[in-house]
Amino acid sequence: MSTGTSTDTPEGADGPGEERPIVIVGASLGGAKAAEALREAGYRGGIVLIGDEHERPYERPPLSKGYLLGKTPREKIYVHPPQWYGEQNVTLRLGTAVASVDPAAHTVTLADNGRIAYAKLLLTTGSVPRRLPVPGADQEGVLYLRRVGDSDRIKAAVERPGARIAVIGAGWIGLETAAAARTAGAEVTVLEAAELPLLRVLGREVAQVFADLHREHGVDLRFGAKVEELVGEGGRVTGVRLADGTTVAADAVVVGIGIAPDTALARTAGLDVEDGVRTDEHLCTSDPDVFAAGDVANAFHPLFDRHIRVEHWANALNQPQTAARAMLGQDAVYDRVPYFFTDQYDLGMEYTGYVEPGGYDRVVFRGDPATREFIAFWLADGRVLAGMNVNVWDVTDPIRELVRSGRAVDPDALADPAVPLSEL
Ligand SMILES: Cc1cc2nc3c(=O)[nH]c(=O)nc-3n(C[C@H](O)[C@H](O)[C@H](O)COP(=O)(O)OP(=O)(O)OC[C@H]3O[C@@H](n4cnc5c(N)ncnc54)[C@H](O)[C@@H]3O)c2cc1C
Ligand SMILES: NC(=O)c1ccc[n+]([C@@H]2O[C@H](COP(=O)([O-])OP(=O)(O)OC[C@H]3O[C@@H](n4cnc5c(N)ncnc54)[C@H](O)[C@@H]3O)[C@@H](O)[C@H]2O)c1
Repeated sequence: MSTGTSTDTPEGADGPGEERPIVIVGASLGGAKAAEALREAGYRGGIVLIGDEHERPYERPPLSKGYLLGKTPREKIYVHPPQWYGEQNVTLRLGTAVASVDPAAHTVTLADNGRIAYAKLLLTTGSVPRRLPVPGADQEGVLYLRRVGDSDRIKAAVERPGARIAVIGAGWIGLETAAAARTAGAEVTVLEAAELPLLRVLGREVAQVFADLHREHGVDLRFGAKVEELVGEGGRVTGVRLADGTTVAADAVVVGIGIAPDTALARTAGLDVEDGVRTDEHLCTSDPDVFAAGDVANAFHPLFDRHIRVEHWANALNQPQTAARAMLGQDAVYDRVPYFFTDQYDLGMEYTGYVEPGGYDRVVFRGDPATREFIAFWLADGRVLAGMNVNVWDVTDPIRELVRSGRAVDPDALADPAVPLSEL
C-alpha cells in the first residue's frame, strides 16, 4: 500500500490486488491500542492511523500528575516506541486532520483534500475541553489541559517563583492540577460552581474527602463560584472576577470545566450521535463499517443494559481490543466494568463501577475516611454499584466482582474490614 494520497483516486482503493486498509482516526491511546489489537488478532492488511497532533500516540494521565510534576520523563508518556509503527507496518500520519468521512464511498478526506479509502473505519477522536464562555477568556495566561504542550505551559506557569494560580473547575483536571501546583510551591485558588469538588461523580459523602484533602494542603477552595470575567492587562490575564464582586488575582488561570466528545466527523458523516457516537456492544456505529471507541463512544453496555460514555483511561485502553476484533468479524462484546484512578498529593485511589449522578441510596465506608485509608461503596437497593479504594491496594478484583454480580450484600459485613471482600 502506498502512503501518498490523491484528490482523484483515493489511496488504498481499486488497484488490483490492493486491499483497502483499516483506517483509524485519532492517533491517541485508543487509536494506538486498536492498531496493536488488530495485529495481535492476526490481521495482516494495511492499517493507517491518522492524528492531527504532531506527537505519536501518548497517554494523558501523566500530563496532570507525574509529567506535570517533573517526575515522569517525556519518553515514558508514549504508548509505543517510535520504531514500533514501522515494525508493525502501521502507517502513522501525524499532523494530519481528517476533514470528513464519506460512509457510502468508504473514504476519509484529509484537511489537505487527500482521500484515503477504507475497508473499516474506527473513530478514536476522543474529546475536547469545554471553553469558558466569559469575557476575557481568550487572553494569554488562560490555560487548558488536554495535550502535552498544555502540560508544558502549565508547568512553566506553576514553577514561576511566587506564582498565583486560579483553577476554574474542581473536577479531575482542576484537582490534579491544583495538587501539582501546590507541590511546586504556587499559591492556588480553586473556583468551583458546585457545592463540593467532584460532586456529580462521587456524591456529597466522598466529595468531602477531596475538599478536606486540598484545604489541608493550603488550597483556597471556593464553592458556588460564578465566574463572570477574566480580567487582564495588555492582553494578559491578571485575575478572575466573580459574581459576588470579588476578584481573585492570578498570574495564570487553568480551566478544567469538563469536555465534550469530539463528534464532528461522525455528525457530518450522518452517524447516530447522542452524547458521543452511539455504538452497539460490539462498538459498531449506525454504519456497519464504522466503529468508535474511547471517550467519543457512547456504547451499549450489556451489564448496565443501557448506553454509557466513559471519559477515562482504562476505557480507551480496553475498548479498542473489542473494536479491533469486531472489525475483523469476530464476535467481541465490550462489557468491562468501568475503572479509573487518581493521584493527588499522597492520596492514591482507584474507582471501579458506574453510578449515575445521584443514582445511589447509600454510601458504606470500610475504614475511616478521615484517615484517607478506606474503601467507599455506593449502593442502591442493597447492591454495590461502585467501590473506591483510597490508599488501600489489591482490592479491585473483588470490588469488580461485587459490582458485576449485582447481588445484595450485608452493609455491616461490607463495612467490616475483618470480612474479606471475596466472601461477601
Ligand atoms: C490531563 C489529563 C489527565 C487524565 N488523567 C486520567 C487519569 O488519571 N485516569 C483516567 O482514568 N483518565 C484520565 N484522563 C482521561 C483519559 O486520558 C482519556 O479518557 C483518554 O485520553 C481518552 O482517549 P481517546 O483515545 O479516546 O482520545 P483522546 O486521548 O482524546 O485522543 C483523541 C485524538 O484524536 C485526535 N483527533 C480528533 N479529531 C481528529 C480528526 N478529525 N483528525 C485527526 N485527528 C483527530 C485528537 O487531536 C487526539 O489526539 C486524563 C485526561 C487528561 C486530559
Ligand atoms: N483521574 C482521572 O480519571 C482524570 C484526570 C484528569 C482528567 N480526566 C478526564 O478529563 C476530562 C476533563 O476533566 P475536567 O476536570 O475538566 O472535567 P470534570 O467533568 O471532571 O469536572 C468539571 C468540573 O468543573 C465544574 N464547572 C463546570 N463549569 C464551571 C464553571 N463555569 N465555573 C466553575 N466550575 C465549573 C463542574 O461542576 C465540575 O466539577 C474528563 O473526561 C475527566 O474524566 C480524568
